[in-house]
Amino acid sequence: MKGIILSGGSGTRLRPLTKMTSKQLLPVYNRPMIYYPLNTLLKAGITDILIIIAPEHAGNYLNLLGSGKEFGARFTYEIQDEPRGLAEAFIIGESFLDGENVAMILGDNIFEDDFTEDITSFRSGGRIFAKQVPDPERFGVVTFDSDGRVTSIEEKPTEPQSNYAIPGLYIFDGRAAEVAKSVTPSARGELEITEMHNYYLQRGELDVKTFEGAWVDAGTFDSLLSAQQLAKEKLQDKLIV
Ligand code: G1P
Repeated sequence: MKGIILSGGSGTRLRPLTKMTSKQLLPVYNRPMIYYPLNTLLKAGITDILIIIAPEHAGNYLNLLGSGKEFGARFTYEIQDEPRGLAEAFIIGESFLDGENVAMILGDNIFEDDFTEDITSFRSGGRIFAKQVPDPERFGVVTFDSDGRVTSIEEKPTEPQSNYAIPGLYIFDGRAAEVAKSVTPSARGELEITEMHNYYLQRGELDVKTFEGAWVDAGTFDSLLSAQQLAKEKLQDKLIV
């Protein structure tokens, strides 16, 4: 299994902090933000990791993370020139992936839970996660029927039919790059990852797992503050780097 950390975007909602550096390098308690998703992959035994970054502040990533040797890993870097959507990561990463299974995590997503079992037991199709949140309209949203089967997946619906958000950890099989290439840009001009979920869902190959632990998408001032508290109070003894 290969790994991707998508650390693109311009972090406009965190200006002026993101004028100096990338959002995903901002401090979250005692570590740069990207260390948390990096821990999630490393703990699951993924050491071949592509880090996709925006052109601004790209040098900061090399200074901080380097070759990966210090982390017992091998890092490869690619640039996402414009924030054209999460699905684009698999197109940018096509040659890196070389048809292998992949776990992609967003550089601003911080999880309390350990996903090692979900990652190592994955064989084929797609596996994503779902967590009940008070503000599902900010996220990809999944709905279930009374038997727990997935009935729909939508990107930021204005009237969400459930409060299950899909966090930024996605596991796909060797088709990921091909599937991403079949996605057409949405109204906001992005290749939406929810279209990839729907590709696997329509074929009966999407596994959606709910989880209970804390999850923060640290893209706003308030969620960054929540991330700091989560990191200090619950994550310190779980981190390996
Ligand atoms: C993206 C995805 C969305 C997902 C979220 C998780 O949203 O498009 O489906 O729920 O990440 O953080 P964005 O970061 O583009 O707002």
